Amino acid sequence: MPLDDDDDRKWVYRSHTAAKHEVLRKYLKPWTNKLTTYNLKSGDQNKVRVVDCFAGRGSYVDTEDTDPLSLEHISTPAEFPGSPQLILDRLTERSDQFDSAECTFIEADLTNYEILEENIERTSGYDQDISVNCKHGEFQNTVLNVIESTDGNDCPTFFFIDPFGFQSLDYDVVTELGSTPQFEFLITFMSRDMNRFLGSEDHQEALNTVFGEDEWQSKIDSYDASNWVPLVEYYTDRLEANGPSQTFEYMITEPETTQTVYYLVFGTNSSAGLQTMREVMSYCGTGKFAYAPKKPEYNRNQAQLPIGNNQTKEFLQDRFEEYIVTFSKLVEVCSEERKYSDATVSDYREALHELEDEGEVDIQRITSEKTGIQGSDLVDFHNSDKFAG
Ligand SMILES: C[S@@+](CC[C@H](N)C(=O)[O-])C[C@H]1O[C@@H](n2cnc3c(N)ncnc32)[C@H](O)[C@@H]1O
Repeated sequence: MPLDDDDDRKWVYRSHTAAKHEVLRKYLKPWTNKLTTYNLKSGDQNKVRVVDCFAGRGSYVDTEDTDPLSLEHISTPAEFPGSPQLILDRLTERSDQFDSAECTFIEADLTNYEILEENIERTSGYDQDISVNCKHGEFQNTVLNVIESTDGNDCPTFFFIDPFGFQSLDYDVVTELGSTPQFEFLITFMSRDMNRFLGSEDHQEALNTVFGEDEWQSKIDSYDASNWVPLVEYYTDRLEANGPSQTFEYMITEPETTQTVYYLVFGTNSSAGLQTMREVMSYCGTGKFAYAPKKPEYNRNQAQLPIGNNQTKEFLQDRFEEYIVTFSKLVEVCSEERKYSDATVSDYREALHELEDEGEVDIQRITSEKTGIQGSDLVDFHNSDKFAG
């Protein structure tokens, strides 16, 4: 018998909970920085919104093998706090950057909701420009109304979609959120549960709702229990078909085995959003876009050899040989075309420094004053006859 969502046994803070919170925590700060800068540049009201769509209780009853998340700015009665407090804490950290921030915490289970409400009522220290709204209801039936009643896509909005299972991940709702230009999401995609139920007649309809079509079974043929990449790839392809233009995945396993628990699936319509999350996911967990202590060899880009600086240099020369390109554009293209390679922004910078020393490229400093490489600095690959800004 599956446990009810308000069963205390479901509320133990585990390593994979911490791994998930680490990504959320590390992304919210650069997200706030970037989006508020964008608001200011575009002359829009300087507001951001975070919707925690499966907010939970705002507390766990116990921890196992790991420390609970630490909060720097706010105080809460929960000994082991949850994602709502993490969000309030991170926004408070960056509250000098916005005029207002709006947090909505949606929770369907009444017992959990009441615990959440009490925890949030007794949480203090978060910035006065942050408004908080706890909402009792189901994500799939509530979130679009919440957005409509708060003026739709009026400001950059981040959705944390963190169910226990997969049943409520309604494809139409998720893609509607994901297709909105200023919206981004991070989904806990419960691959372990999916794996368990893929063959079960009783779950076919729920799975049809998750994937937004009935033919999924034949399309994930190459999937097997030891390699779940085809399953998550199929899901992200489905999301990209009608939702966000870019997705990115991060694998989370059990700490003591190689068993995948879930993938975090990120969706965005912005190249800058993809780049930022990619960087964050590259230094979270155990590396290579995963928390997988027992899979040190894990490489999401299975077909590719580990990427060293030489491969990065060769890639840059091949890809851009006909171009003069700004450093920002170069990083944007690389983040999209080499999504799961190890290289980060600083690796691209280092490779360009070496190419410059070897006389293979010329760099005209526009943003940088002296020898740095950033932003609008122009990189000329010598055979260039085209400009890519
Ligand atoms: C994994 S827990 C959330 C944990 C929380 N995000 C955190 O990190 O602390 C999932 C929560 O979603 C709630 N829930 C289940 N179905 C839901 C639905 N359709 N809409 C909103 N919440 C739901 C459950 O009661 C549970 O509290």
